Amino acid sequence: MPVLEREQSTNPGDNNGLPKLPVPDLQQTLNMYLKSMKHLVPEERYRRTQAIVEEFGAPAGVGEMLQHKLQQRRESQANWVYDYWIEDMYLNNRLALPVNSSPVMVLPNQNFNTDGDAIRFAAHLISGVLEYKTLLETRALPVDCARGQLAGTPLCMEQYSKLFTSYRLPGPRKDTLVAQKSSVMPEPEHIIVACKNQFFVLDVVINFRRLNEKDLYTQLEKIRKMADSEEEHFPPIGLLTSDGRTEWAEARNILIKDSTNRDSLDMIERCLCLVCLNEPSGLQLTDTNRALLMLHGGGIERHGGNRWYDKPMQFDIGSDGCCGVICEHSPFEGIVLVQCTEYLLKYMSGSPSKLVRAASVSELPAPRRLRWKCSPEIQALLAASADKLHRLVDNLDMNVFKFTKYGKDFIKKLKMSPDAYIQVALQCTYYRCHRRAVSTYESASIRRFQEGRVDNIRSATFEALVFGKAMSDGEPTFSDDEKMEMLKDAINAQMNYTLLAITGMAIDNHLLGLKGMAKEMNMDPPDIFTDETYTISNQFILSTSQVPTTVDMFCCYGPVAPNGYGVCYNPQSDAILFCVSSFNDSDQTCSNTFVKHLEECLLEMESLCSKNSDGASNGSNEGSGK
Ligand code: COA
Repeated sequence: MPVLEREQSTNPGDNNGLPKLPVPDLQQTLNMYLKSMKHLVPEERYRRTQAIVEEFGAPAGVGEMLQHKLQQRRESQANWVYDYWIEDMYLNNRLALPVNSSPVMVLPNQNFNTDGDAIRFAAHLISGVLEYKTLLETRALPVDCARGQLAGTPLCMEQYSKLFTSYRLPGPRKDTLVAQKSSVMPEPEHIIVACKNQFFVLDVVINFRRLNEKDLYTQLEKIRKMADSEEEHFPPIGLLTSDGRTEWAEARNILIKDSTNRDSLDMIERCLCLVCLNEPSGLQLTDTNRALLMLHGGGIERHGGNRWYDKPMQFDIGSDGCCGVICEHSPFEGIVLVQCTEYLLKYMSGSPSKLVRAASVSELPAPRRLRWKCSPEIQALLAASADKLHRLVDNLDMNVFKFTKYGKDFIKKLKMSPDAYIQVALQCTYYRCHRRAVSTYESASIRRFQEGRVDNIRSATFEALVFGKAMSDGEPTFSDDEKMEMLKDAINAQMNYTLLAITGMAIDNHLLGLKGMAKEMNMDPPDIFTDETYTISNQFILSTSQVPTTVDMFCCYGPVAPNGYGVCYNPQSDAILFCVSSFNDSDQTCSNTFVKHLEECLLEMESLCSKNSDGASNGSNEGSGK
């Protein structure tokens, strides 16, 4: 459901009578698993996997026993896969959050003429955050409903309640997603403002009164002046949060030995969100550069230390007008991030800033600077974190590409699903770049179910490979009619998988559940999960996600495999925005080449469809005319 309508009003956080996620049929999952991998691994390997899977699924075998246990788990939990999933997807992952895990939202470029403009923008935005938080707390946020396939179904709102209340605590082996419980006597609320690598506590409620926009502006001005003061300047501690999770957990353990550090950490961990005020980056603010800056902050030389990656919502506000939201992904999906950010942007454009004159006259206590005691050991760890972030900055290869020849309206006129069409185009592109198909991830929302997050649409279908080959290989040659049939087959295969995924019948969560259950029962992992095919099936060389927006902003993220691509796309009526990322140190990938072939494929698919369909040629003409 790319665009979510709000229809009924109910309580975010309750399950609104939603059904529980089903446990799919075991044989159906095993068959789909084999079918999805057959064309992705060599034949001999596939035959071995087939035997392993058959043994696993044999009557009265291990598979059936684990399946039975999963069904019992389903009875006792709101969502049988949630804990397994969040650990596997996020909390067990030891990689640094920037680029590898945290998606970002790049906001429209702002026209700030003075430094005061950026502060004014920040004050306005914080007011919006406080309004949105009130909507969440008073349970006034309308329930999202699905669009696209199975439109109209109400969706689980649980993720919204975590926007401003959770924190990802690093751990030596696995992280913990900490949720702040609302208490009878709520404690004073605060935002952390980062400025010049210093962190400040901005109380948003003082003497039981919520600060208005003027007050916020005054406080932010004070923070900016305090950040300029040379007298008390602390090292860029935020850098530690950009490191690998184990490294950060170890550094944190050292930090908390000192009570000053403990107090500072406590304030950050309990804040609503971060607002990071940045100096101009000095870069040309193209879409690609802005995406890069949001993803990694440009290293310590730019904004890399002016952040705290564990906190789910960080608003980056550059005095050069480069603004965005950096999101710790474990508590919610990009769609929830979009909804919240769109609310804030609409709030800001719909309610003009209330700042007539610069500052408020009220005497507010100055915001507090967070202090740090940095031992030589911490200083050394900071240097190591800076170095690693620098390598991440150098390594990210990003291309933000707006395809403007046509958008989803043209695809709809073909009577095809725009999402399926784009996925088939991505498969065709990958094939054209690398002459093979690879394990692909496409996020499919399972918010139709209690506490539902996502499952995977395995878009690398056999049908998409057949189509990609026909469109890319010189031999054998196919007529346009034949290619059109192949395209239709590929789109149908993709749509069928999508339908299964959004109704809780995909295979990735199910296999993960069976594996997790075996672990919980202290069993040796069944062969199906130690088999190389299973490993390959989980190396998502193409990691894709549709994140549509209705205002001028876009989402992007990094690749999840060293030799892979991250492709986030945003279909609009008459254009499609693609954010393609990969790593420079892989000699197999190149974002520019991928984009070049993607454009070719989209144009060739349009031409093919136009030749083969009357409706399409109408749509094509319209699309071309733009
Ligand atoms: N003919 C004409 N129109 C069609 C069509 C067809 N055959 N098939 C679909 N359409 C229309 C739909 O009705 C819809 O119309 P709308 O724009 O008026 O709503 C539009 O095309 C888009 O549908 P489609 O492209 O099929 O996509 P979808 O909306 O069903 O989305 C997923 C598919 C998988 C992206 C979606 O189900 C989903 O799960 N989204 C969440 C992804 C996510 O979580 N991302 C963030 C991860 S961090």
